[in-house]
Amino acid sequence: MSTYPAETYYVTTPIYYVNDRPHIGHCYTTLLADVAARFQRLRLGRPGDVFLLTGTDEHAEKVVQAAAERGLTPQEWADQNADAFRAAFDAMGFTHDDFVRTSEDRHKTRASAYIARLMEQGDIELGDYEGWWDASQEEYVPENVAREHDYKSPVTGRELEKRTEQNYFFRLDKHEAWLLEQIETDQIRVAPGARKNEVLGRIKTGLQKVPVSRQIKDDDPSDSRDWGIRMPGDEAHRVYVWIEALCNYLTVVDTDDRVRFWPADVHVMAKDILWFHAVIWPAMLRALGREIPKTIYAHAYWIREGRKMSKSLGNFIEIETLQAYVDRYSLDAVRWYLVTQGPLGANDADFVHDRFLEVYNNDLANGIGNSASRVANMVAKYFEGELVRECNGEFGFPDGKSLQLALQAREAVGKPADDPSRTFNFPEACAAAVEKATAAMDRFELDVAAQEALGLVRLVDDFISYSAPFTLAKQVGELEHADKALATILCACAETLRIASLLLTPVLPDKMGELRQTWGCEPPEGVPLAELCAYNGPHALRRGHTLHKGDALFMRADPKDAPPASPDA
Ligand code: MSP
Repeated sequence: MSTYPAETYYVTTPIYYVNDRPHIGHCYTTLLADVAARFQRLRLGRPGDVFLLTGTDEHAEKVVQAAAERGLTPQEWADQNADAFRAAFDAMGFTHDDFVRTSEDRHKTRASAYIARLMEQGDIELGDYEGWWDASQEEYVPENVAREHDYKSPVTGRELEKRTEQNYFFRLDKHEAWLLEQIETDQIRVAPGARKNEVLGRIKTGLQKVPVSRQIKDDDPSDSRDWGIRMPGDEAHRVYVWIEALCNYLTVVDTDDRVRFWPADVHVMAKDILWFHAVIWPAMLRALGREIPKTIYAHAYWIREGRKMSKSLGNFIEIETLQAYVDRYSLDAVRWYLVTQGPLGANDADFVHDRFLEVYNNDLANGIGNSASRVANMVAKYFEGELVRECNGEFGFPDGKSLQLALQAREAVGKPADDPSRTFNFPEACAAAVEKATAAMDRFELDVAAQEALGLVRLVDDFISYSAPFTLAKQVGELEHADKALATILCACAETLRIASLLLTPVLPDKMGELRQTWGCEPPEGVPLAELCAYNGPHALRRGHTLHKGDALFMRADPKDAPPASPDA
């Protein structure tokens, strides 16, 4: 089994522009980071050694404009919107360890110190810049990209402006060969693979110096002059918002007690901002003599009816829509849909209501929900709620006699199994699921990890159909040892579901917590996942344990349900 991460795990999300209202895109990326963090906390058994950072990016020019339009200071406007992000992330149950705002002193002071150091070393120098400015994205677009898009923003389609200014430049050009080597050899793992190739292709076209400051104009309103970070030693320039924003990942943990989290294990984002993270940021860190992040993961976009979500189309899935789904189907159902059906790989994903219902019913209501209640109901019906035998041993798995007896019971009532040669090796299946889910999590393939966990649920369902415990129950008293086989079969089902529930917890924290509470098998704190998940190990469900029947975890949805009403539906 993989031993990564060794000691600590640090995952970050982009810091979001405080001008936007939180929507599905922001929630999605933060959800991925939350699932990864929850998994690693469980895996290590030491929650304090995992750090999840999110927050808001506040020093953009458009914040100043939007605030002025409302008669507010940039700080007041940023305060309001940062609160909206915090509220949205709380509603989604995210477990970030910190929420950084770039207007905070802790960020400004350290970011400024990093820039000062780069200036002193000659990694940042003064020069002239002329280029195509994309005001909607607050970034310069290279000449070839501008031409390709007819001098319009490649992201929003808004007209680009020609700008000339004196600027400070970061010597990105010095790092070209190093970056190629680091990314090619996965020292900096850029994923998914399609994104890695794109980045490598673009680096190979040559790296130039990049501007890292903006001149403060004489006609800037005073609010704007005070907003942002000044270039150290030069009051006439402000640090370009992107450059200081990237620093957030380090400023927040660059303290005595948190520096052990650096370097980040994963920076997660969408493909729109990969270049900054995969190229500019590692080069800055190298120049600063700091360690570089291990993985840069850039997922694709949520789209709607085949089109990109954008302000101009007004087709965002807003937080209110997600909330309406949460209210009707539960938070965990929304988390499950987003993680398993979202644009985690290289392809965009459409949010489709009918698909939501299909996945909800298949995986949750008829999947883990139904499986758990079937097992608990049979234990209640045949053994008054008690597990009366172990899941291994003479009748257990992999080699015990219970499956053979179950097949005999089927024969006896004239319903033989189609294929009498199957074996169900639960210890092996559980160990493989833990190992595969862990490896997938390390590759940040969270959807694959979730399906591995669900695979154990499917295995239990398949096993119940095959071993037909209800048939075996009718043979108790007729077929010798039928009662023992029945009890062992149910214990194996319960034990396998206990392990599945642990693996499903990062995506379904509430419902799996509820299930384990009902079954009385909440894991103790401080024990690593591999030990918790050992089949018939020290934390197993075993003889003498009472399994209570709880409420249904997920009520079945009517496939004809209309989408829940929300302001933007
Ligand atoms: N402030 C910068 C990031 C600085 S990080 C040092 C920024 N902010 S943003 O508010 O525009 O957020 C962009 C991010 O939001 C994307 O990279 C992605 O994580 C998320 N998403 C925004 N729209 C999205 C979709 N339609 N689909 C999926 N994720 C999306 O860029």
